[in-house]
Amino acid sequence: MSMADTAAPPDRYAVMGNPIDHSKSPQIHTLFARQTHQHLVYEAIRVEPGHLATAIALFRQAGGQGLNITVPFKQDAWRLAEVLNPRAERAGAVNTLLWGNDGRLIGDNTDGIGLVRDLTQNLQQVLTDRRILLLGAGGAARGVIGPLLETHPAGVRVANRTADKARELARLFEDAGNIEGSGFEDLADSRFDLIINATAAGLDSEVPAIPTSIIGEHCCCYDLMYASQPTAFVQWARNHGAALAMDGLGMLVEQAAESFYLWRGLRPDTPPVIAALRSGL
Ligand code: ATR
Repeated sequence: MSMADTAAPPDRYAVMGNPIDHSKSPQIHTLFARQTHQHLVYEAIRVEPGHLATAIALFRQAGGQGLNITVPFKQDAWRLAEVLNPRAERAGAVNTLLWGNDGRLIGDNTDGIGLVRDLTQNLQQVLTDRRILLLGAGGAARGVIGPLLETHPAGVRVANRTADKARELARLFEDAGNIEGSGFEDLADSRFDLIINATAAGLDSEVPAIPTSIIGEHCCCYDLMYASQPTAFVQWARNHGAALAMDGLGMLVEQAAESFYLWRGLRPDTPPVIAALRSGL
């Protein structure tokens, strides 16, 4: 729908999660809509555990066109989707929902591509032939492995506090590229060009117990988490000589842009939106 149709009610979108009060998605999508002249509203909806299916159905009945799904419902959304796009199927999680022409609920996952776009386009990082270390083996880690492997790195090492989970996760993707899993203690003799923190350690202001010797020359450290202050992992990286240390705000905006594209067929210009969020708009 274009600007000319402002007499018509706006198309409706939302993010569902719990908690949801501090979500930046309404702000991001409102900036995208303004920039691309789309007539839409985007709200944040808090859903109680176990009620995602009902909430989605009610939203659809009320004319909803598309949804983002965030913590803790991404796996639930994966199960509820009637059609899964391949990257969502592989990720085991859905962060974007839309309805097909036949009315079926389509699940996609834009987190991994959001990370790769932030790294390659906004931060000008080359991933091809680079040694990537992915910390963590939960849902957040799984969501980004497929798109990382598609950039043809030299290899992806998944390292986790619970080593067996890292090995299991690596096995799930072994047909898609050079990937192996280990514990943190097995990292001591390795160097990496890109270290991605996908653990939940930052929620407790902690950093995974990794040796600082793994930071290679020109190493980029990237935290999937973001906060108004530098995250614990970003501080750790800066203190130990990483060439670049970034939080996940850019990824958040990039995953939103890919969702927006799935819904509206338009790609918003992301750098001004990242800048606006950084400046605390
Ligand atoms: P998410 O969906 O955010 O990935 P998750 O599936 O619960 O959440 O996974 C949390 C991840 O953070 C796991 O890899 C976990 O390690 P374990 O599998 O060993 O539990 C990791 N994690 C959480 N707290 C951590 C800490 N203090 N140090 C290192 N890793 C931590």
